[in-house]
Amino acid sequence: MNDFVTIFEVGPRDGLQNEKQPLEVVDKVSLIDDLSQTGLTKIEAGSFVSPKWVPQMASTAEVFDGIQRNEGIAYTALTPNLKGFEGALAAGVDEIAIFGAASESFSQKNINCSITESIERFKPVIAAAKANKIPVRGYVSCVAGCPYEGEIEASVVARVSKTLFEMGCYEISLGDTIGIGNPKTISNMLSAVLTEVPVEKLAIHCHDTYGRALANICASLDAGVRTIDSSVAGLGGCPYAKGASGNVATEDVLDLLGGLGLNHGIDLNQIIKIGNSISNKLGRSNQSKVAIALT
Ligand code: HMG
Ligand code: MG
Repeated sequence: MNDFVTIFEVGPRDGLQNEKQPLEVVDKVSLIDDLSQTGLTKIEAGSFVSPKWVPQMASTAEVFDGIQRNEGIAYTALTPNLKGFEGALAAGVDEIAIFGAASESFSQKNINCSITESIERFKPVIAAAKANKIPVRGYVSCVAGCPYEGEIEASVVARVSKTLFEMGCYEISLGDTIGIGNPKTISNMLSAVLTEVPVEKLAIHCHDTYGRALANICASLDAGVRTIDSSVAGLGGCPYAKGASGNVATEDVLDLLGGLGLNHGIDLNQIIKIGNSISNKLGRSNQSKVAIALT
């Protein structure tokens, strides 16, 4: 089995989208510039979404304008519709992500349409991205449970994942949006998805609401998943999933991978410094256990 794991750093997007206090563009830019020096190859830098829905992401175009791009890093952004795609294209985004869900209620609350409508909305976005040679990632939220509906059938997660994959997403990121999964439910969900999408096309995106993210990542690694979404200092949460806390901390994932003998090519000490710095700026405590232990 492949011993290299790709870390998809979502801190500047998922980590910051839920912050109540606005963070200055210059601070977002310096966060991304610092992350660009650590060995990361994927940095989700923002979202081209409605500023009424997610005010904190309103400055994404300015952020893209300000960052020092490092060759070898894909700077990515969320685009829910064509308007978002046009913003991303103008900003020179390297890769976009569409974001759907396995829960009807979450889809309505998050992007104001049903799952079926969302698929229709994504089609022209994917076509426009293909025409511009921009890779598209597909998120599926609520893969282990929904804040509005509770349990979500693994077969629905598999169906939505298959649809996004067949539509042309190069990778499907499976989001445990509210961190409700456990190693057993995550393994069952992955078994269902793996009947439809090859393992090398999957990523796992764990929020750490119940402190189970690392256990769920271990279950995902056992299933062969080799791309992990994480957020420096464990920043994050979804504004349309009440109570959802941050993503698993990048620092904690790197430490786990090191212990398991899996390679990632990222400088843990640098990430710890960056996590401490952004936590100070936000007046938050660092959510990474490893950063606390090693600082
Ligand atoms: P809507 O209100 O149905 O959209 O929202 P609309 O097309 O009717 O447009 C309404 C207004 O928004 C118009 O402006 C549009 O121009 C504007 P107005 O005429 O009222 O002034 N608008 C836009 N502005 C900027 N960029 C755009 C855009 N589109 C429309 N792209 C919409 C539908 C999808 C836009 C809205 O629901 C939305 O922006 N939702 C985003 C919610 C979001 O970002 N959630 C967090 C990310 S998902 C997540 O965190 C989960 C994830 O991490 C995985 C996991 O953890 O599970 C990925
Ligand atoms: Mg998320």
